[in-house]
Amino acid sequence: ESYNHILVERRFPDESNNNSARGGVGIITLHRPKALNALCDALFDDLIHAVQAFDEDDSIGCIVITGSGKAFAAGADISEMSTREFAHVYKKNMFAQWADITQTSKPIIAAVNGFALGGGCELAMMCDILIAGSNAQFGQPEINLGVIPGAGGTQRLIRAVGKSKAMEMVLTGNRITAQEAMEIGLASKVINSDLLLDEAVKMGFGIADKGGVAVRACKEAVNAAEEMTLSQGLMFERRMFHALFATKDQKEGMSAFLEKRKPNFTDE
Ligand code: HXC
Repeated sequence: ESYNHILVERRFPDESNNNSARGGVGIITLHRPKALNALCDALFDDLIHAVQAFDEDDSIGCIVITGSGKAFAAGADISEMSTREFAHVYKKNMFAQWADITQTSKPIIAAVNGFALGGGCELAMMCDILIAGSNAQFGQPEINLGVIPGAGGTQRLIRAVGKSKAMEMVLTGNRITAQEAMEIGLASKVINSDLLLDEAVKMGFGIADKGGVAVRACKEAVNAAEEMTLSQGLMFERRMFHALFATKDQKEGMSAFLEKRKPNFTDE
């Protein structure tokens, strides 16, 4: 693996640290610091490749995406886009491939440090859990460039924070703080920015320790809620729940509880 615009690292639990999680965490750091990690096409190609490689890697149970320097990502690359014409962006279906990130079966945690603007905020929202560093700032400033968000900023944002706040953010382009992002439900929690990555990895180890089939089913069921009516979603959830009774991890998890011991999940 050699990437130009991202850094990739695998971290495994350290048993001396009383951490015996079964799986590792794959960390992807967006790394174009001179452009505040602006998401040029080449960076996104790297990102999709790395995410898919971790998704296929049996030693990895959870993925973390973070940014280097003072940004998570300051948006799509404006210098790359600025002179493009309608016919080009339409024929290429520009940014459609970003959604590949959402097709992974393993959970992705966005550990958002610094600026998460435009496409940066949209990328964070494509992840499954968003935790904010205390220095994070979120915004959809596309309106200031004469465009609108193009990768979920009008769709995932409203589902996360409701209409009025989403409208305020996309119409004014104003940024919100980490604290506000947590209060409105965009971020699940705020962590001191110096400790952000370690906390995200710790959360990742916690998830990697669970049964991998149930983890995937959780992710699929929660994501289904965004696409389905309540009755369809409840049916989907219940059928997935039933299906997990075909796994060894269900037998092991429930036996372990009754025997008052830690389960030995095998992802089967
Ligand atoms: C290209 C960018 C960039 C971007 C920053 N840079 N954001 N380059 N695309 N999105 C570059 C700057 O040009 C500058 O390069 C360097 O990064 C440092 O940025 P500064 O502006 O000097 O830093 P600062 O004064 O600290 O301001 C930080 C900032 C500002 C507030 C984040 O950079 C900013 O407003 N950036 C643009 C944010 C934005 O509009 N994002 C939405 C993009 S559109 P030089 O070479 O001058 O040092 C979008 C559409 C998504 O995302 C659609 C679907 C995917």
